[in-house]
Amino acid sequence: MLSTLWLLLSFAVPVRGIYKFISCPHGKQCQKALLSSNDVLLQCSSAGAHWYYFFLQTRSGWTTTNTSVSNMVTTPIGHLLIRDPLPSQTGLYSCWNKNGTQETQYEIDFQDVSSLHITHKSLDQDPLHNESLELGRQETVFTHWEPWQDCNRCNVPGERKRLGYCYIQEPQEEPVPCGIFLGQAKLKSNRLRPEMQVEACLVPCDPQHSYHHEYTIFDSFSFSKESEALWLTCSLGSIYR
Ligand SMILES: *[C@@H]1O[C@H](CO)[C@@H](O)[C@H](O)[C@H]1NC(C)=O
Ligand SMILES: *[C@@H]1O[C@H](CO)[C@@H](O)[C@H](O)[C@H]1NC(C)=O
Ligand SMILES: *[C@@H]1O[C@H](CO)[C@@H](O)[C@H](O)[C@H]1NC(C)=O
Repeated sequence: MLSTLWLLLSFAVPVRGIYKFISCPHGKQCQKALLSSNDVLLQCSSAGAHWYYFFLQTRSGWTTTNTSVSNMVTTPIGHLLIRDPLPSQTGLYSCWNKNGTQETQYEIDFQDVSSLHITHKSLDQDPLHNESLELGRQETVFTHWEPWQDCNRCNVPGERKRLGYCYIQEPQEEPVPCGIFLGQAKLKSNRLRPEMQVEACLVPCDPQHSYHHEYTIFDSFSFSKESEALWLTCSLGSIYR
């Protein structure tokens, strides 16, 4: 099983931030669906490690020692930080130690966050239904839901959300994240996308739980005259919590 936890990095990488931490047992291969545009940190605890990556859509990749991809950085302890990942970075990531032995390997599907299908349960909006792909092997596209995240408030009505990833299953086979299943294949299907569901919640405040909310204050910005719009990017924001 993959375990995920939050890590606040203040010294290991040049830029502070909160990243979703993805780990995989030593010597194992782990498959995982995630969302694009949200920073992640792939675990590999081996100082001086180098990473080999291979992007499925473009069938390109190399090692972090002789190529650089601007949004990927190896931290001094060996983790791989991927900032603002793109759907085209769906692929294989393997970590090798100094002796040239593979430590761990990830197959990551960065599902396109801009195609997220969002529904509100308390407003009776329907999530996506299972659909068959008709590629000839009775493939079913379905949403694999993660657990509900914490309610955003306590003692008063709040909201909580959960993420759902696109998976494809063939009969008698293990389900596979859509982007990994399809690889380079481009299918025109409106079903091949991740989901988010929101619902109302009301929870008592738990004295054991520390309700520390990190926040960023934007105090220096200006609107663009043409669009009258503005993007504020919160470095502490993440769809995963
Ligand atoms: C990068 O390193 C890998 C593995 O050592 C090697 O196979 C590949 O040819 C190198 N690529 C370049 C562009 O030097
Ligand atoms: C690399 O190999 C040496 C010699 O076999 C060994 O002592 C060391 O523990 C190995 N290091 C790693 C990170 O596996
Ligand atoms: C959708 O498909 C998945 C995977 O095949 C299956 O586990 C699930 O029960 C299906 N859901 C419905 C409502 O048919």
